[in-house]
Amino acid sequence: MRKDFPILDQQVHGQPLIYFDNAATTQKPRGVIEALRSYYEHDNANVHRGLHELSSRATEAYENARQRVASYLNAASADEIVFTRGTTESINLVAQAWGGKFLRADDVILLTEMEHHSNLVPWQLLAERIGARLRFVPVRDDGTLALEQLDQLLTTDVKLFAFTQVSNSLGTINPVAELSRRARNAGAVTLVDAAQSAGHMPVDVQELGCDFLAFSGHKMCGPTGSGALYGRAELLDAMPPWHGGGEMIVSVTLEKSSFKKAPHRFEAGTPNIAGAIGLAAAIDYLEAIGRPAIAEHDAQLTSYAMQRIAELPGVRILGPAGERGAILGFVMNAAHPHDLTTFADQRGLALRGGHHCNQPLMRRFGLPGTTRASFYFYNTQEEIDRMTDILGDAVSFFS
Ligand SMILES: Cc1ncc(COP(=O)(O)O)c(C=O)c1O
Repeated sequence: MRKDFPILDQQVHGQPLIYFDNAATTQKPRGVIEALRSYYEHDNANVHRGLHELSSRATEAYENARQRVASYLNAASADEIVFTRGTTESINLVAQAWGGKFLRADDVILLTEMEHHSNLVPWQLLAERIGARLRFVPVRDDGTLALEQLDQLLTTDVKLFAFTQVSNSLGTINPVAELSRRARNAGAVTLVDAAQSAGHMPVDVQELGCDFLAFSGHKMCGPTGSGALYGRAELLDAMPPWHGGGEMIVSVTLEKSSFKKAPHRFEAGTPNIAGAIGLAAAIDYLEAIGRPAIAEHDAQLTSYAMQRIAELPGVRILGPAGERGAILGFVMNAAHPHDLTTFADQRGLALRGGHHCNQPLMRRFGLPGTTRASFYFYNTQEEIDRMTDILGDAVSFFS
């Protein structure tokens, strides 16, 4: 498969590139690059507007991409898929359009301590605006959620429970179906942040039983600026628009407008047409490999990496010892995460060092940040061996 990813075949600082920053963004296969090129070379036009051939082709490709995303997530209908710029925009959409209409002062928004800033800051902004309250499911020392406290936390004033499927710092895989069921029993709407899961494992919104689910195309082989929000039809239909402009209206007078139905009501202005087409090509690529196979490869690489890194002196690995996503966050006594990451970069190894948009979680563990290695299906055991050698050299160098 590596030959499908031209970017991987290069030297960085005189060494073969090892790309272990997949949780930040993944690389793109030729099929995706080719879909973008072909769209711009043959079909580029605005969608839903022109009565000409190119516009019809662009519209058809864009709406087919929506159908592709719907089937990838097993949504009941393509009308439940809103194209967005990614996870962050999807969550902001729900916070503003759904939260702005349905939440009131003193309602509780339940989150977890492991949320990425994208699934925290939009709720802080909303809570501040309407006087709602935020509450958090704590994270245990082993990086899992303290679910024994959930019944106590899911009181009747909780109107929304938003949580990540896979933690981008700890690798923890949360039991989404169970959390959704318990939230629904308590009368709360659920939002799942699938940024770290959608490209790595089967994600079936009907099986998970969630109300909203957000993901980013660029973390699953798709183009940057692509992504989507899944919303149950009943909820999307009841939500007002959040951005106003072209494409999302039925009729406009100088004083007032009426709006299209979901999902077009939420897609004001010219959308990222090429991004949606590239995302559909990424989905084709991932489905050809098979998500269970990707999850299996993730699990093998991650458990091997944990074993190898644990051999190094003065290392502490964060997150669960057992099942986890393809994410390995650790700290080493020898050096600060930024220094380690720079040392690795000089040897062609791309890691990430810092708080990973998880400042509250880092604070929870009393750390300024971690070094993170995150894997995808094109990574290999040999690359992990090389990483272990480089980190071993770092221990000697910094000591
Ligand atoms: C768990 C999680 N949620 C949300 C995001 C935000 O994704 P994006 O920047 O693509 O909107 C990320 C990105 O790192 C993430 O890891």
